[in-house]
Amino acid sequence: MSQERGFRDPATQSMMLTALYIAQEQYGHLNAEAIERVAGRLDLPVSQVYSTASFYSLFHVQPKAKYHLQICEGLSCALCGGGDALIEYLEGKLGITAGESTPDDLFSLEVVQCLASCGTSPAMRVNDELYEDLNFDKVDRLLDQLAGRAGE
Ligand code: FES
Repeated sequence: MSQERGFRDPATQSMMLTALYIAQEQYGHLNAEAIERVAGRLDLPVSQVYSTASFYSLFHVQPKAKYHLQICEGLSCALCGGGDALIEYLEGKLGITAGESTPDDLFSLEVVQCLASCGTSPAMRVNDELYEDLNFDKVDRLLDQLAGRAGE
């Protein structure tokens, strides 16, 4: 298959998402080697695979902490007490700013757009798990619970 064909082929496009997910499971994040491997397997340009990997919040092109928190700043979440209020709360509680990891590499924080949970906002994803209807108390309990699991 030529790169031009793969680039335009919807089946290859959809295989790329699955391949990226599997590669992320294997590598921990989508580093250069993982991106090149997916591109090679699907005969796609590396730039296209990287562009896709860096677009979706489900994929990580940088290493993440053990618990990667993705907090939504979308409109529904903001109107329901999330957004900036929850982001600032998490930053204060963890002692980091969005885009950083805690020194023990337990938590990393990322601000993302809609997590497709507007009806149950505010929402946050921790690794592959979605948490909804959040407030400060629920965030406190969740972080305590995760910190307690840290040694597992
Ligand atoms: S705006 Fe936050 S989940 Fe949609």
